[in-house]
Formats: sequence, C-alpha cells, structure tokens
Amino acid sequence: MEFIRDYADWFYLVGAVLFILTLRGLSGPKTAIAGSRYGMVAMAIAVLTTFFVAEGPVVWMIGVAMAAGAVIGIAKARAVPMTQMPEMVALMHSLVGLAAVLIAIATVLKAAHFGQYDAEQLVLVNDAMVAQGHSAFVGFSSTYRFELFVGCFIGAITFTASVFAYGKLAAKKWAKTISGAWVKPVQAALFIAMLVFGGIYFATDSLTAFYIMTLFALAFGWMWIAPVGGGDMPVVVSLLNSFSGWAAAGIGFTLENNMLIVAGSLVGSSGAILSYIMCKAMNRSIINVLFGGAMGGTAVAADKGEQVQRNYRSGSADDAGFLMSNADSVVIVPGYGMAQGRAQNAVKELCEILKEQGVKVRFAIHPVAGRMPGHMNVLLAEADVAYEDILEMDEINSDFPATDVVLVIGANDVVNPAAKDDPSSPIYGMPILEAHKARTIMVIKRSMATGYAGLDNDLFYNEKTMMVFGDAKKVVEDMTKAINGGGH
Ligand code: TAP
Repeated sequence: MEFIRDYADWFYLVGAVLFILTLRGLSGPKTAIAGSRYGMVAMAIAVLTTFFVAEGPVVWMIGVAMAAGAVIGIAKARAVPMTQMPEMVALMHSLVGLAAVLIAIATVLKAAHFGQYDAEQLVLVNDAMVAQGHSAFVGFSSTYRFELFVGCFIGAITFTASVFAYGKLAAKKWAKTISGAWVKPVQAALFIAMLVFGGIYFATDSLTAFYIMTLFALAFGWMWIAPVGGGDMPVVVSLLNSFSGWAAAGIGFTLENNMLIVAGSLVGSSGAILSYIMCKAMNRSIINVLFGGAMGGTAVAADKGEQVQRNYRSGSADDAGFLMSNADSVVIVPGYGMAQGRAQNAVKELCEILKEQGVKVRFAIHPVAGRMPGHMNVLLAEADVAYEDILEMDEINSDFPATDVVLVIGANDVVNPAAKDDPSSPIYGMPILEAHKARTIMVIKRSMATGYAGLDNDLFYNEKTMMVFGDAKKVVEDMTKAINGGGH
C-alpha cells in the first residue's frame, strides 16, 4: 500500500499512456477491441491507485456506489439497442457533469463549514495537525476559486444540456425544440448572469454567489440545447462529450488528481476533434451548430415545397442481380435505410455471393451516413464484413468512374450530387460519395421520398440509374436469390 502511494504518479503515468493507446486503438475497427482493453486496464489502474492515494476514504460508501454503478451499467449495456446508443451516451455525459457540480459544491461547503485547509495541499487540517506544522488558512486561494468556478459551471452546463439532449434523442415530451426571437436574449442573459455571479464568488468567496452561479449555469445548459435542431444533435452530443471531459479535468484540478486531469483532457480534446470532423462532413460550422439553433432552426432546412414530376427508371431485384453478377466491380453505398431495414446481414450475404462469382465488391462509407458517427461501420462489423473491404469516402471517391455498378442501399443525402453542383442547395459544400460517376447506379429504397435533409436527389433521375423499390432487406435477399439462381 505504501509502495502504491509512493509511486502513485508513476501508476498514473502508466494509466495515462494506456488511455492514449485506447484512443489510438479505437480509431480503427481492427484495433478497437485492443483499444477497449487498454481502456479497461487504464481505468482499473486509475481507480485502484486513487484508492490508496486518497486521504481516509470511506471505503464502504465508495464500494456501495461502485457496486450499484456496475450493476446498473452492465444491465444497461446489455439491454440498450444500437439505435439508442446516442441517447445513452448523452445520459452518461450528464452524470459526469453532475459529478463535477457535486464535487465543486462539496468542496466549497467543506471550506465554509470547517474553514481550515492546509495551504499547500488543500486538505482539511485539525488543530493537532496545525500543531504539527501544517499551515491552516480560511478559504481558498484565488486560483483555486477560479478552478472551482470554471469546473462547476462547465459541469452544470454539461449536466442539463446532456439531460435535454437525451430527452430530445429519446423523443421525450418534455424535451421539445424551442424557437423564437426571445431565445437568444434569454441565453445571453443567463450566460452573463452566470459570469457575474461567478465573478462575485471569485472576488468575495460568497457561498450564495456560488450557488446562484451554479443555478444560472444549469439554466443556461438547458436553454442552450433546447433550440438546437434535430440534425445537429449528433454534433451536440459529441460536443457534450468534449465538455464532460473538460468538466472531469476541472474536477481533477479541484481534487488535485493528475490522472483525472489527463483523462479529462483526452476526452475533452478527442470530443472536440470528433465534433469538428462531423461538422465538416455535414458542411456545418461549429459556431453555427452552437448558436445556430438560437437563430431559429438548423442550416440544413428541409425544403418540403412543391415537387415537380420527373422521370426515373426502375427495375426488379432480378434485373439488378443479373447486372451485378456480370460486373467486374461493385461498390456498395449503405445509408440510413440499411440500418432502418436491418439489412446488414443480407448485404453481407450478397457481398459473399458476388465475390464467389468473381466480382470485386467494396463498401463506401460516408462519415455521416445513417444517424450517428460510425453507424455504418458498426452495422457492417456486426455482419462480419471484412474490414479491408470497407473504404472511407476519401479512399474510394476516385474509384467511382472506373466502377461498373454502384449499389446504393437506403442512402440518399450522402450521394446527392446537388451538394457539389447546386450552390442554392442547403447541403451545397457537403462532401459526398460520388456515386453518380459510376457506369451504372442502382438505388434500393421504398419510394422516391427524400432523405434526412428533405431534398430531392438528381441521382435518382440520372439516365444511368435504376431504382429498385422495396424494403432494403427484402430487396437484397431477392438479389442474392436471383444471383444464386442465375450465374455468371
Ligand atoms: P438519408 O439521406 O436519411 O436517406 C435514407 C433513405 O433510406 C431515405 O431516402 C429512405 O427512402 C430510405 N429508407 C429508409 N428506410 C428504408 C428501408 N427500410 N429500406 C429501404 N430504404 C429505406 O440517409 P443517408 O444518405 O445515410 O444520410 C444521412 C443523413 O442524416 C444526412 O443528411 C446526415 O447529415 C444526417 N445525419 C447524420 C448523422 C450522423 S452522425 N450519421 C446524424 C444526424 C443526421 P424511402 O423512404 O423512400 O425508403
């Protein structure tokens, strides 16, 4: 035990390195499992070391809390369907925010009630300890008050914003999107009030000011997320992930725990990078996502206006199967419809049968295909599709002109050429998979309905395109049957 206490910083260093390896591992499907394992070991090292470093921990209380957390966590992890992952993640971020607020409040309360802190270590000292040479002081240094103030308000904003994000994603009645000219001034007023009371706390050490600041931060978190449009929610959840990391780092400063500072900063910065990548892939600016809601709606506004009748070509699954089995190369572009129709296993089977026929089959993944980051990668991994057959947008886009057949399965916005050609389109500028450049395009969807952005798609009316109508799973199964029955 003494040994762990003496070498705590070394243990924390090993934990921090393992956390970095975790992030590295999680960046690719092949290394993701190893990444998760590094994370588990790092967390075990961090928790155990902290146990030994802590001054007189109330072991039974921590034990009960950890056991309860483990039971709830395991039960939830087993039960939650893939489609509810984003809301689950949002709920978990709220807990990090709440922990930051509670720790900050507990810390200021401890100071207010006991007043006696060791000036160096910020641990409570009693008279006996003072007699032993500990220097006691009443209240916190200004740096420490600043840390408490920042940690608490980031935590409070993360908490209520994440609860609201959870409600919105889970379509709860109490989490309705709000709009109106009043929203932005109210947001600004809450933010300024929060800073003012934080400033008063900083200047005077007033407990009341600290509480009022926390209340304004809680209200601001709620009001900040309430106007954000549905399309921006995944970016917001990833931003809240980042915030929860900074809140954890803030707690690390409060508790003087280096491990928490490092781990929190890693979460904070990786969440910020992910938010940036998602914004780029959706052609949204982060500022617009953060404050766009208050300006009244999302930038990708759905145009549900009048639709002009246009001609398109449609064919059967048999025709499509025949065409693909006679192709040299096929690129499959999955989208939200593949997830909605739970077609991934059928798609994998189709891919296998085509390969048996000597066709080169690959998958093209758009970073925001589906409804959450990595949605398609997760589904294809679940169906055991080989990782080397799955290519990201940048890797595959130059191959489309030389591709015989592109099979679009329930994707729409991510292959909409308007994003490249039509400056008046709300999605203009969003990078797309350039499926329209292939020799033949086949699109599986149930109707000519629009996708998430509510926009018509020229690809469906392209003379090289054949629409194959029906539910993704059924159509793909029929294609496989057709190929099985036919042949090269
Ligand atoms: P979408 O543009 O939403 O199009 C999906 C298409 O799938 C629809 O047009 C729909 O047409 C079809 N579909 C639905 N259920 C189907 C089923 N059971 N069988 C066959 N087809 C089905 O999808 P996308 O191309 O993947 O683009 C994603 C969109 O979501 C983008 O606009 C993106 O910005 C947005 N978004 C993404 C994320 C993330 S992080 N991935 C988060 C939020 C928003 P029918 O109704 O005619 O079948």
